Amino acid sequence: MAVAELGTDGTHIMHMPLPPLPPLVPPTSEAPSEIRGLIAQLHREYTALDDGAVATYIPELSKADPAKFGICLVTADGRVAEAGDCDEPFTIQSISKPFTYGLAIEEWGHDKVFRHVGVEPSGDAFNSIELHPGSTRPYNPMINTGAIAVSGLLYARHGEAALEQMLTRFSQLAGRQLSIDEDVYRSERATGHRNRAIVHLLLNCGVVEGDAEAALDLYFRQCSVLVTCRDLAVMAATLANMGRNPLTGVSAFELTSVKDVLSIMFTCGMYDYSGQWAYRVGVPAKSGVSGGVMAVVNRQLGIGTYSPRLDRYGNSCRGIAACEAMASRLGLHVFDCLNVGSSYLTAVL
Ligand code: DON
Repeated sequence: MAVAELGTDGTHIMHMPLPPLPPLVPPTSEAPSEIRGLIAQLHREYTALDDGAVATYIPELSKADPAKFGICLVTADGRVAEAGDCDEPFTIQSISKPFTYGLAIEEWGHDKVFRHVGVEPSGDAFNSIELHPGSTRPYNPMINTGAIAVSGLLYARHGEAALEQMLTRFSQLAGRQLSIDEDVYRSERATGHRNRAIVHLLLNCGVVEGDAEAALDLYFRQCSVLVTCRDLAVMAATLANMGRNPLTGVSAFELTSVKDVLSIMFTCGMYDYSGQWAYRVGVPAKSGVSGGVMAVVNRQLGIGTYSPRLDRYGNSCRGIAACEAMASRLGLHVFDCLNVGSSYLTAVL
């Protein structure tokens, strides 16, 4: 039975019991050989793709090796298939955004977060300085305006402890202790004038309340969390597994926030490429400017890719191509003809 609790802002937070979960498998467990073979083949095929360019607008990111390429898939019961540079550390950048959004929903409740950040695709670039004209709040939490508003909510809740809370939750999602790349953090803090303009716009409109610089600092730090492509796949598998990390068994997110996070990733996760991504790949996903892509196949898979050469939208060229091919070869698209839809309807019809 669902348990209702009164949030601090007076809204009700529902805590739903988790449906039965599959038993844990050891972290070293391998995915079936057909899947491992496909991942190795995709890695070979798309290593040849050298389109795109490494991001330079955060100076420290320009040091990334453009040749690096990893693909990792983790099933919702913890089996792994990977190829290439899956241990290469890079900063999470915008892939932090769905997770901080989920955290804010759990901390503040859905209604309060919705009053600060909308859920509409903007159709514009991730760093656009714009608000939804009707509501004067950010369009959605996957672009910089919305993500900085979310950081403001987390800072308002926990103050200086917000960073530790966030790192703890990110670490639970990845199943290992994560840390911050101080050089990338300092590099973005020194050059992130556009984001500084955004936070002051949000302050002016009342979307960020209180210490705007502290909210921005939290945002810069969340973007500088170091991950690997395997971490991204495990974090995605945790979302696929209804918030419970399939390797450690730790519950990192509640069921209701997982649903909110996946919905917003589906419609807005790939910025102004989100429509094309939904059309071609058809699963919730999020990309980051350091070259990561994370995709989730509900109840089945987490996918992480890393290759730092980006297209004009700020998405990894090889990551997009490999995910597109994987979706087509494995039938991952949510509207694939073999997707049977509601299990309730299957049972009663
Ligand atoms: O705020 C920024 O510009 C970066 N810290 C994150 C942007 C990002 O990852 C966009 N992704 N493609």
